[in-house]
Amino acid sequence: FIPPSSGGSGGGINAKDALGNDIVVSEYTASHPAGDRNLAQGLKGDPTYVIVDEDDSIRSYGLNAICTHLGCVVPWNVGQDRFICPCHGSQYDNTGKVVRGPAPRSLALAHADVVDDKLVFSTWTETDFRTDEDPWWA
Ligand code: FES
Repeated sequence: FIPPSSGGSGGGINAKDALGNDIVVSEYTASHPAGDRNLAQGLKGDPTYVIVDEDDSIRSYGLNAICTHLGCVVPWNVGQDRFICPCHGSQYDNTGKVVRGPAPRSLALAHADVVDDKLVFSTWTETDFRTDEDPWWA
């Protein structure tokens, strides 16, 4: 066992693209427009949405794409401005907050930080700002 090096937000992992390469933020934002929500490999290998904000920066949280109902990967629907699960119709708003069941909970959050032009995900242990509740996933 090698403990994480000092500095940074310990325990983070580099977000990976579909080919398993580290996401390079400057390249990513050059090819993904504002409002973009696309999947990266996140914590524990879970598919995790990376959100590009209006100022072309990457939002400081990613959204775990696994539906909190029975675990389907939830696609982003641009026209509806929602994530809509194809399995049983659950819906989540553009922050991943559940707005229609049967899903019982919002999509899990992960911190998304830019470190040396790489995107780093780490566990979100703070209050869920969408519900003001403790994170159910931590
Ligand atoms: Fe998503 Fe059932 S798995 S609604």
